[in-house]
Amino acid sequence: MVDQTALLIELEPVVAANLDRHLSLAKEWFPHEYVPWSEGRTFDGLLNGEPWLETDSPIPDVARTALIVNLLTEDNLPSYHHEIATLFGRDGAWGNWVHRWTAEEGRHGIALRDYLTVTRAVDPIALERARMTHMQAGYANDHPDEMMHSIAYVAFQELATRISHRNTGKATGDPIAEQLLARVAADENLHMVFYRNLLAAAFDLDPDHAMRAVADVVAGFQMPGANIEGFQRKALSIALAGIYDLRQHRDEVLQPVLRQWDVFNRTGLTADGEKARDELAVHMDNLDDQASRFEEKREARRQRLNRQEEVRG
Ligand SMILES: [Fe+2]
Ligand SMILES: [Fe+2]
Repeated sequence: MVDQTALLIELEPVVAANLDRHLSLAKEWFPHEYVPWSEGRTFDGLLNGEPWLETDSPIPDVARTALIVNLLTEDNLPSYHHEIATLFGRDGAWGNWVHRWTAEEGRHGIALRDYLTVTRAVDPIALERARMTHMQAGYANDHPDEMMHSIAYVAFQELATRISHRNTGKATGDPIAEQLLARVAADENLHMVFYRNLLAAAFDLDPDHAMRAVADVVAGFQMPGANIEGFQRKALSIALAGIYDLRQHRDEVLQPVLRQWDVFNRTGLTADGEKARDELAVHMDNLDDQASRFEEKREARRQRLNRQEEVRG
């Protein structure tokens, strides 16, 4: 097995090449251009403006929930920075990536908060309290000493946030929010590609270890915001609305990345690698069953609600 330090050194040229690729594709953009400032009004409190009211914004409840989850997730950036800076280091190409990535992620939180505050889409006091609680809980990497695991995790996680941002944008019914979240989602996609390419190189260096990492990470995957207060309830309503559900997680996040790594056709694995791959295959099948069951329940629920609606006429 290639050890952590050797892996850092071996992957450095891959990081350098993919950072160059990233910089050539990443488009400069400005959060202030995505916010309808003239819709803003002063709030109550210090400046004696108007208090926030639920009726201030026509955005559906579930889209507000998703926006809050997405923003709180972005808000926890100092913890993520700490984790990847500790693991990848702050020197050379690794450090350049860590700092560039952090600066881009910082833009996401700025843009989302400005939009939500100006449009009064969510209660600004509840939002600030939730941010305090969430950031004080911090975020910790599930595999703090495992490079391979951490890279596999972020590859999936960046794609998961891409899907979640994009679908949240659509769920708002507001073309301005949709445009902003599509912009953020495009950044997340480039982040995913960076990490995906990095793990592809790691697969060539140490296929058994990479396969183990992928199997473990897929089996234990949790969204980065999973420790947000009330996350289970929020995640359920987000899944019921089809913004992010198990089917999307399996088919639009896990599956395409696994396919890019060609995990199920790889050769050159020893018994350990084969065992990890078998576990992964079983887990993907289980996820398929769980996703189908959820879809059936959701459909039954939808029909029940429709009938209730008809009765009420
Ligand atoms: Fe982000
Ligand atoms: Fe990202």
